[in-house]
Amino acid sequence: MNTSPDVILGIETSCDETAAAVVSADPGADSGRVLSNVVLSQLDDHAPYGGVVPEIAARAHLKHLDGLVRRALAEAGVVLRDLSGIAATAGPGLIGGVMVGVMTAKAMAAVTGKPFLAVNHLEGHALTARLTDGVAFPYLLLLVSGGHCQLLAVEGVGRYRRLGTTIDDAVGEAFDKAAKLLGLGYPGGPLMEKAAAQGTNNDRFELPAPMKGRPGCDFSFSGLKTAVRRHVETLGGSPGPQDVADIALSFHRAVGDSLVDRVARAMTLFRDAHPDGATLVVAGGVAANKVLRARLSDLCDRRGFRFVAPPLALCTDNAAMIAWAGLERLRLGLVDDLDFAPRPRWPLDPHAAAVPFAGVKA
Ligand code: KG4
Ligand code: ZN
Repeated sequence: MNTSPDVILGIETSCDETAAAVVSADPGADSGRVLSNVVLSQLDDHAPYGGVVPEIAARAHLKHLDGLVRRALAEAGVVLRDLSGIAATAGPGLIGGVMVGVMTAKAMAAVTGKPFLAVNHLEGHALTARLTDGVAFPYLLLLVSGGHCQLLAVEGVGRYRRLGTTIDDAVGEAFDKAAKLLGLGYPGGPLMEKAAAQGTNNDRFELPAPMKGRPGCDFSFSGLKTAVRRHVETLGGSPGPQDVADIALSFHRAVGDSLVDRVARAMTLFRDAHPDGATLVVAGGVAANKVLRARLSDLCDRRGFRFVAPPLALCTDNAAMIAWAGLERLRLGLVDDLDFAPRPRWPLDPHAAAVPFAGVKA
């Protein structure tokens, strides 16, 4: 029997963070150890444009990735020979950046003869709570990031059922766009949270809680952005600091009301299908938001769900989550060929539209 731990190098380059990490786990262990986790944010490169510019991102990944991989290995105290496998985000994401990460991982796998693991970025977010907290399957996952807003039943590695998704903007995108309208800068989430902390009145500016009370578990956030724009226009296009703070506070209340409503519905569906599983995991960049975390944690208390949110550094994009997903896949023998093609689009539940889950209308 093999008793030595699995040690995986992970690479993440699907958006505007270049990241490399080493994660290990003893055979059969429920959770893992993060041996190193280096993240280079390209925020300053993209900030002047108010969003991520794909071409700039790909060039920056190419420039920095080799050095980051070296650092991740050194900080973990391992050499290539010690690795059990090499994992990289192979989609979904900005394809230029994804290709940089995948080509690097493939080259290392080819040279060392180690297994190559093509990881879905969303699966990385989805499985992080197992790395950190050893959460057992099945669990309910709220994935809230800049590009994604989904409710998933996570039933096993590679077994995801989508209960709800956004019909327009992702929630992180709504934070980013609202922040831009309020002149706060990019990325919007943390800046909105900071502004809201100075807010004193969450009734002053009326903002709708999108989809609240509607059937199903889908999300919608573009109307919220439009409502913020109207308030800004009403204020003559230049809201003062207290206006910004109060709008940001109302925005948190509206987003919180919407998320709580949608997640509560998903909890009912999840319970019907999995009477024994009662854990809500929140993942993705927006899970860093303390106000929203508190709302969801409170919902869990009321509904008898365990609430798990990975530490902040593992909520936003990172390579430890990719290494961990690779480790879980390697354990199951889900190794990929070196001709695996990067995928700009890669839904976690490709049957989401076709297979209704416990009464959710497709
Ligand atoms: O998961 P992530 O790092 O990247 C992907 O989109 O995959 O998420 C980034 C998103 C951005 O939209 C950012 O504004 C949002 O997460 N975000 C937050 C907070 N921190 C990051 N949103 C709300 N509150 C925060 N504290
Ligand atoms: Zn992400």
